[in-house]
Amino acid sequence: MQLVILPTIFLSLLSYLFYFIIVLFAEKPRAKLRTITRQGPQFRLGGQISCDRSQLRYDLCSVNGSTVMDPTTSTFFLVGPANPNSVEKIKPYPRKFDDFIMTQIKELTLTLSPTSPPCEIQHSAPALVFSVGGYTGNFFHDFNDGIIPLFITVNTIFPDQDFVIVISEAPSWWITKYVDLLNTFTTHPILTLNDTTSTHCFPSAEFGLISHGFMTINQTLMPNQRTFLHFRALLEKAYSQNVLNPPTPNVESRPRLLLASRKGSKGREIVNEDEVIEAMEEIGFEVIVFAPKDNTSLVESYALIKSSHALVGVHGAALTHSLFLRARAVFVQVVPIGIEWASDAFFGRVGRGLDLEYMEYRIGVEESSLVEKYGRDSLLLKDPHGVQVQGKGWPPEIMNIYLMEQNVKLDLGRFREFLKKPYSKAKQFMDRHG
Ligand SMILES: *[C@@H]1O[C@H](CO)[C@@H](O)[C@H](O)[C@H]1NC(C)=O
Ligand SMILES: *[C@@H]1O[C@H](CO)[C@@H](O)[C@H](O)[C@H]1NC(C)=O
Ligand SMILES: *[C@@H]1O[C@H](CO)[C@@H](O)[C@H](O)[C@H]1NC(C)=O
Ligand SMILES: *[C@@H]1O[C@H](CO)[C@@H](O)[C@H](O)[C@H]1NC(C)=O
Repeated sequence: MQLVILPTIFLSLLSYLFYFIIVLFAEKPRAKLRTITRQGPQFRLGGQISCDRSQLRYDLCSVNGSTVMDPTTSTFFLVGPANPNSVEKIKPYPRKFDDFIMTQIKELTLTLSPTSPPCEIQHSAPALVFSVGGYTGNFFHDFNDGIIPLFITVNTIFPDQDFVIVISEAPSWWITKYVDLLNTFTTHPILTLNDTTSTHCFPSAEFGLISHGFMTINQTLMPNQRTFLHFRALLEKAYSQNVLNPPTPNVESRPRLLLASRKGSKGREIVNEDEVIEAMEEIGFEVIVFAPKDNTSLVESYALIKSSHALVGVHGAALTHSLFLRARAVFVQVVPIGIEWASDAFFGRVGRGLDLEYMEYRIGVEESSLVEKYGRDSLLLKDPHGVQVQGKGWPPEIMNIYLMEQNVKLDLGRFREFLKKPYSKAKQFMDRHG
């Protein structure tokens, strides 16, 4: 168990450090693809290998002719006359800026070659090839680096077209966990590179996933104007089977609040969770503690969240479940000291994109457990920005204090006062939408 949990915590900490680098760069429009073969007299089959390496977050490559995939060497062959530039390499994972994790991503080879292995399994639709290695396994990263970039890429490259998903590497449980969602993108079975020994051929292939930034679907960069609301519709399609009937509104019924609990996690726990639950109930909510495990079925989580009127939790991967809330539902993020930027970038964007009633409860210094350890006059608490390295954010050991060492003890008076607005919004939502 430790083997699974430790790397996830460690890796996602690193991902916090990179947003300072990223925020300095605006999304650039996609540059013209650089083509590497020229059509010549001896050119028969047609097709080219081309790569766009102009983006900060991802590379994209494309083979626009018949291609043979050899899984044993992770190589894709395009048959044609070789020239000195006829090999391209790509790591199809959208965190190009993140040197640490990219060293762990499998590299694929695309080659123009006079010969290729014979084709054993022929597909009639093009392939979209990408990796779900890296940080996969943390629910935030599964969406941030996997499912959301997939949605963007499909809508950019294959809008309303048939294609085959080819995953170059994924933990074996990943496809099982996300198969309902993957099946909304394509009717073809999902192929995994290290799960097959046969060669497969495709009329063409695309490599890599497009990312618009942390938890972002930028409508102006989408050729078909898709937004988070379209993404939400896809989740509905994938998970709406077996959805519990939302409680029927009546005088007695209370808006349902899910409290995303981090009890037992490393950092960002609500240490007075029982009292907080009482306060929520006193205000008028029906409270359900939501503590999903890695193996919790998504159909089940989806049904529960869809039947709820509010989701409340301290900043953490579980808040990625806000994607499952209905539009206009209430989403409250409790923001510990020092995590303001990430809170907004990771989940504030989801709140706005999905048209949720998004609110932040920013804790006061006295509500942070860091007070006991470092004293209320510590710069860590009084001036989190002051302890940043100019232009670079916090060094890892400081980020680690804010993320892993800090728990919160909510001031019940202040929190009760704060809850009035979420309650009235949730009640309104329930009265209107059930
Ligand atoms: C979306 O992309 C456009 C074009 O690159 C950019 O000007 C805009 O700031 C982006 N919007 C967001 C919310 O990132
Ligand atoms: C591949 O792309 C190049 C450049 O865009 C184009 O000239 C060529 O005709 C395409 N080949 C095929 C088989 O589509
Ligand atoms: C494929 O590779 C991933 C990670 O590299 C591994 O977790 C998985 O078990 C492998 N699958 C098979 C069938 O070997
Ligand atoms: C999920 O994993 C836990 C152990 O981590 C186990 O006790 C539980 O039965 C599993 N649940 C399912 C639905 O597989």
